Amino acid sequence: SPTRGVADGFKIPTHFRALPEVPGTDPKRRVMDAFRIAIAQFLVEALPELTIEKAIEGVDYGRKEDFMVALPRFRLPEKPAELAQKVISKFKPDEWIEAVGHEGIHLLFVVPTATLTRLVLDQVHALTHSASSGESEYGTNTTGAGKRVIIEYSSPNIAKQFHVGHLRSTIIGAFLANLYKASGWEVISMNYLGDWGTQFGLIAVGFNKYGSREELEKDAIKHLFDVYVKINADAEKDPSVKAEAAAFFKRMEDGAETALADWRMWRELSVKKYEHDYDRLNVHFDAYTGESQVSKQSQDAALTQLEQMGIIEENEGAKLVNLTKYKLERAVVRKKDGTSIYLTRDIGGAMERYEKYKFDKMIYVISSQQDLHVKQFFQVLKLMSFAWADRLEHVNYGLVQGMSTRKGTVVFLDQIIKEAGSVMHEQMRKNEDKYANVEEPEATAEEIALSGIKIQDMSAKRINNYTFKWDRVLSFEGDTGPYLQYAHVRISSITRKNPELLPLPPPSEIKTELLTEPQCRDIIYLLGTYPHVVQMTLKKHEPSEVVTFAFRLAHAIMAAWQPILVKGIDDTAKAQARMWMYLCARDVLGQAMRLLTLKPLERM
Ligand code: ARG
Repeated sequence: SPTRGVADGFKIPTHFRALPEVPGTDPKRRVMDAFRIAIAQFLVEALPELTIEKAIEGVDYGRKEDFMVALPRFRLPEKPAELAQKVISKFKPDEWIEAVGHEGIHLLFVVPTATLTRLVLDQVHALTHSASSGESEYGTNTTGAGKRVIIEYSSPNIAKQFHVGHLRSTIIGAFLANLYKASGWEVISMNYLGDWGTQFGLIAVGFNKYGSREELEKDAIKHLFDVYVKINADAEKDPSVKAEAAAFFKRMEDGAETALADWRMWRELSVKKYEHDYDRLNVHFDAYTGESQVSKQSQDAALTQLEQMGIIEENEGAKLVNLTKYKLERAVVRKKDGTSIYLTRDIGGAMERYEKYKFDKMIYVISSQQDLHVKQFFQVLKLMSFAWADRLEHVNYGLVQGMSTRKGTVVFLDQIIKEAGSVMHEQMRKNEDKYANVEEPEATAEEIALSGIKIQDMSAKRINNYTFKWDRVLSFEGDTGPYLQYAHVRISSITRKNPELLPLPPPSEIKTELLTEPQCRDIIYLLGTYPHVVQMTLKKHEPSEVVTFAFRLAHAIMAAWQPILVKGIDDTAKAQARMWMYLCARDVLGQAMRLLTLKPLERM
């Protein structure tokens, strides 16, 4: 999608060595690609056996130096040392490359600070401020243009606990939705509610005994849970309750309107409450579906096909699909009384989603506890030879231990949100002077606390288990969500504190050549890598890569804060250049935080 920012806001000076267009690169959105192309072009000149396409693949971001090239990747007959000699002997510095060195099998490239600084800041500024959408486009790419992805996440069960596993799915899923959007995909965020199954027969029986319309209107999720807990206890003692519940659910499955009316209301009121809680988390869904929405026909069709394929076995009246050949055991696909189950609904559900959305990809964000279940239904869809079966992807994650509130175990999402906000609020109150200056202390506390929960959740590899600790989540020290918010607030204060430097001149008149200190270069180099971080994250679906980037940037900014002053220096042009750099850094930090579903704060 062309934007004003990409089209007009950013230009490479015409007196620079002209660069060829190279497939897979996008210097208009990712100016570091311009340096990579410049290096590749030089490599082709020095090693004529190479093509530019091959050369560019070898140019990576460096660890110490700016860029590096692992010579063996080119599979050329000469030894790395010989190749390096050839390249180095051909080298002449220009606007794109300042120096080339050689270490082991690697070539190491340094680019001129003046070019890096000018181009990166220009691009950040252009894509942040002139996009026609009004949203920053820095860090975005177009690799998903024209493609559609369904991302299914959160998917709690009505009338049951919203546990930390659901919270992780919500956080990771919302991040992935942002990530795919930033990469040009059309994203459908889908919530697949556990709104069907025998427990609804139980709730129906329980509702007659313990239900209250008034309580339901107040907080459907809590009330249905209470009813469920009570009737469940009854059912433990009295088998007739279970039988009654099973009979009721059977009527629901048969579509008896009298059995469905209440259920429909429970569902609607629960969704309403969920939407409200999700909103506080900055999470939004395009579609609320659920197990109840999967039609009987598609499940029957799937069963019939599996039976014809000869992989259905019967056991005491129940039907099982035999997946032992794939080391995926046997799994029940239909119960003895003919009612459907979770697995079959996932099979039929995927078929219906393809019919409706013709997705290019569908991602399920589900706990690793359900790895077997997911493998089973993916395998069944493959066996049914759907061409789209290989477009499904499971993004799994490990367990969280120990999330509880001071009152006890967490059962509902709003308990987590409330507890987080109030713990943070108390902490903020301890600093009376500061507290007096916060405009909306409660909302601010909640936002900082939620940042803490989200960042802790996304800090490590998804698959790792972790133990939840409030004091760590809510600390302003160390790599925490509150620390990121603090860093963002601190840089945001720069315009308030230095009004005499405003308004800044237009970018072309800001003297970026005055940004000579290594601390500035560190910040600017990091800013330049952000679009690359976004694109890499798309491959592994690891939010931790963006979290790591955000912390590195926040640390680089904090390391510059004392030595690279804006206030009280005589040279106004220098002060303005520094302020501009800090503001660009603020924009990119904010951009990374938004990608992680945080709302960057301006004050706290
Ligand atoms: N509601 C399920 C649970 O809480 C999660 C649903 C995951 N999605 C799916 N398509 N099976 O365990």
